Amino acid sequence: MSGFETLRALVVLGATRRGHMTLTVTDVAGGLDVSVENGKDLDLKFRSELASFVPSSGLIRLVWHGEVIAQNGLPYQLFGSAKVVPPAGAFLQATAHGEAVLVDSMRRAIGDAKSVVDLFAGCGTFSLPLAQTARVHAVEDVSDMMEALAAGWREARGLKQVTTETRDLFRRPLLPDELAKFDAVVIDPPRAGAAAQIAELAKSEIGVIGFVSCNPVTFARDARVLLDAGFVLDWLEVVDQFRWSSHVEVAARFARMS
Ligand SMILES: C[S@@+](CC[C@H](N)C(=O)[O-])C[C@H]1O[C@@H](n2cnc3c(N)ncnc32)[C@H](O)[C@@H]1O
Repeated sequence: MSGFETLRALVVLGATRRGHMTLTVTDVAGGLDVSVENGKDLDLKFRSELASFVPSSGLIRLVWHGEVIAQNGLPYQLFGSAKVVPPAGAFLQATAHGEAVLVDSMRRAIGDAKSVVDLFAGCGTFSLPLAQTARVHAVEDVSDMMEALAAGWREARGLKQVTTETRDLFRRPLLPDELAKFDAVVIDPPRAGAAAQIAELAKSEIGVIGFVSCNPVTFARDARVLLDAGFVLDWLEVVDQFRWSSHVEVAARFARMS
């Protein structure tokens, strides 16, 4: 079955007339990783129908209402040299090509920094590739994503140390004394931006910030705070990450004026 045929068959099998069934589909090595919300309720009979659907479907993992129904291999993502199995439906960059461009931007942004803090780190899209050259502390508020990142790092070879911290950066941003341990920051907030964390970065002694944003409006607001605090914008790149939409991703480097 092609990917779309599989998804269509899954909808025929599991949609109800009550509302919209949502499928989160991730392209993984060997097939698709699918997480379904708002489908039919799971009972014994339906669970076994779904489980028997998976082996011939090309699905690597099927998660229904948060429950893993069947897995046909490891639904992993390769971040640098590390294999990470993200929790079902977890945030991932939208396209592999866009992701590669953003990772390259952040490598150039941190340069030869020896210790980096990756804020809003997700499952380690930036942390793990950057750990090829720097110690990385990854911070994110979804604990399952931090666990996936840590497990990927433990299995990988040849990376510098990566530590993780589950923390709500809107309510509890890293403070200047905590930031003092790092040579550089990578920050990639959700569309709302990172007002609280940027205010602390502005007060800190941090010299270099690699900034990724999927919302140019909140990026401009947060960039203004950094510029007013004495940073300069070294460069800014626009990445056409969201194919078939008018949205863009921005990657930038800020550095303190010396
Ligand atoms: C744009 S994504 C970037 C993730 C990661 N850097 C990547 O490229 O895959 C933003 C991340 O921020 C996390 N997040 C959202 N609100 C947060 C908060 N208040 N505190 C910490 N992390 C948060 C989300 O779970 C998500 O993983």
